[in-house]
Amino acid sequence: MKERITALRKEVDDFRITGADELEHFRIAYLSKKGEISTLFEGFRNVPPGEKKETGQLLNELKQFATDKYSDFRERLTMAESEPSGIDLTMPAYPFGEGTRHPISIVRNEIIDIFSRIGFTVSEGPEIEDDNHVFTMLNFASDHPARDMQDTFYIEKKSGSESDPHDVLLRTHTSSVQVRVMETQQPPIRTISPGRVFRNEAVSARAHCIFHQVEGLYISENVSFADLKQTLLYFAVELFGENVSIRLRPSFFPFTEPSAEMDISCNICDGKGCNVCKGTGWLELLGCGMVDPNVLEACGIDSVKYSGYAFGMGIERAAMLKYGINDLRLYFENDVRFIDQFRTEIL
Ligand code: DAH
Repeated sequence: MKERITALRKEVDDFRITGADELEHFRIAYLSKKGEISTLFEGFRNVPPGEKKETGQLLNELKQFATDKYSDFRERLTMAESEPSGIDLTMPAYPFGEGTRHPISIVRNEIIDIFSRIGFTVSEGPEIEDDNHVFTMLNFASDHPARDMQDTFYIEKKSGSESDPHDVLLRTHTSSVQVRVMETQQPPIRTISPGRVFRNEAVSARAHCIFHQVEGLYISENVSFADLKQTLLYFAVELFGENVSIRLRPSFFPFTEPSAEMDISCNICDGKGCNVCKGTGWLELLGCGMVDPNVLEACGIDSVKYSGYAFGMGIERAAMLKYGINDLRLYFENDVRFIDQFRTEIL
């Protein structure tokens, strides 16, 4: 009897069930009233009393084993039947790719974060502006080349080719927000203005017709060029790391006097000179200067009592220097293989 039980258990184990027909064969062969296991139970009464206990146990185990196998397959079969097109809902899902911030947003947010730590607020102004806020009130001469059709996207020209303060245009820089802030607020003013700007330029690795700038403005009593320099040094160290050096070169902007351009030491060669910095060891980052008294007066601020500084930089440019990006167009193509490389703590 024991040998028969062992042999049957192997048989039950080896029985391949792949569909409903085989499942039914299995049931009839082993679990039905006339099946093999029932037959063994019938023969049980002839087992000698000394062997009954052990044989009974083996027999019960065999029955349990066959019943489990049967119910297991039946359950699988009904599950498969109730699933449309055989989709296995128990399969683990594909991992969900987490999005990342665009490098321009990352750098913009970092710049906002750096300046808010020293008390700067954030101001915004319209992208569609008038000539007055973009040029005239910022002390641009009426024949300044920046007003030229080649540089500025005009929406509405009021008087032929002559520049007119009422002309409607896409702002070419965020310096227009300076004007809007000074028109509506009295000093002390401490604000930065990030935003999109537009220039009529052919798209290339180094130029684009849409890009982003951050403008900075600080107006109070007794503001000096030393304040400007110290603020910019703080900013550069926070954005590029403590090993960065800055240098200021004299420059010209209609709305600042004196004006300067600020370079940072090349972070690729540590200032030794390489092809990125064209051997100079320096990379140009921003324009700045002391706000021209004409601009303060045009905006209704007393230029005898107050003075201030301003600065402006391209965010694409800052991000290029920070991450070593060499083509502006990459920012606008939004290829995930590019933007996925930028991950940051700052949201
Ligand atoms: N608006 C200038 C530009 O678009 C940048 C700039 C230079 C802004 C000097 C400033 C500044 O506020 O003081 O190139």
